[in-house]
Amino acid sequence: MLKRDDDLAPALAAADPAFRADVIAGLTRRPRAIPARWFYDRRGSALFEEITRLPEYYPTRTETALLQAISGEVAHLVGDGRAVIEFGSGSSGKTPILLEAVSASAYVPIDISAEFLRESSRALAMRFPDLPVHPLAADFTGPVALPPIVGERPKLGFFPGSTIGNLAPFAAVDLLRMMRRSLGEGAMLLIGMDRIKDQATLEHAYDDAAGVTAAFNLNLLERINRELQGSIPVDAFRHRANWNADRARIEMHLAATRDIAFTVAGRPFTMAQGETIHTENSHKYGSHDARLLLRAGGWTPVAEWTDPDDLFAVHLAEAQPPRPAP
Ligand code: AVJ
Repeated sequence: MLKRDDDLAPALAAADPAFRADVIAGLTRRPRAIPARWFYDRRGSALFEEITRLPEYYPTRTETALLQAISGEVAHLVGDGRAVIEFGSGSSGKTPILLEAVSASAYVPIDISAEFLRESSRALAMRFPDLPVHPLAADFTGPVALPPIVGERPKLGFFPGSTIGNLAPFAAVDLLRMMRRSLGEGAMLLIGMDRIKDQATLEHAYDDAAGVTAAFNLNLLERINRELQGSIPVDAFRHRANWNADRARIEMHLAATRDIAFTVAGRPFTMAQGETIHTENSHKYGSHDARLLLRAGGWTPVAEWTDPDDLFAVHLAEAQPPRPAP
């Protein structure tokens, strides 16, 4: 029997209206696409943590080892005692390395998940009992008001994990400019970016043998069913990860394996066999691309490091005062 609107109303009222709007708009437009930020409900965040430990998923362990190796050089370049502002801190696994190396004077983790923030802030407070920690539950893609305590201190932005890769270059530039405005002139930024490499390595990193990334991608459909009263037949979808060489990015899709019809928040949708929902982009940057991106976003490159296999890069940049054009 079809559910009537007033049966749907109570549960839907509790759902995030931005999630509902993005899903409805995303399933309506062609090509269908839903922003990757909606992966991270409780289960999605746990699955991502699992991804970071997969043998095929090189970025996390490569960046962590790299940060470990360069921490002395970073400290020398940024100096002691900056306030560290981390964008999208998540579980903050790499953060202690940096906080320790630069003798941070304050730490401001920014994340949309208030729950993750609370847990990771507590863990950090135990490890660094004298460090003032001021978590900020916010969407860092919008303007952020920093807590007054970091006010006049020199600042170091930290944006690891190649999270910037989720954004198309034009949006990545917007975000970098926004970070420059939030942090102010004289601030520095330490940012991780995944490098372009051979197609097989890239595709395996996003389509692992154990199927964890597939589960991560498919969980978006489960979340829609759960939170938006959806009737999506999840078993009729297959995870796909393709390298788009033209745009230098991995694209993740959910492909329908048969013709299907379903509803989300009371609205009907149909998909034909082979049709996909585009769920994530993960852009990769060579050295020149990365530096141009930083400059376009108002950040002057200062230094750059990679692992011996050139899999992943960490860039240090500075918000220098604008100079008059020649
Ligand atoms: C968290 C955006 C950096 O793009 O590599 C991992 C997300 N998606 N496997 C990435 C992700 C599938 C990840 N970022």
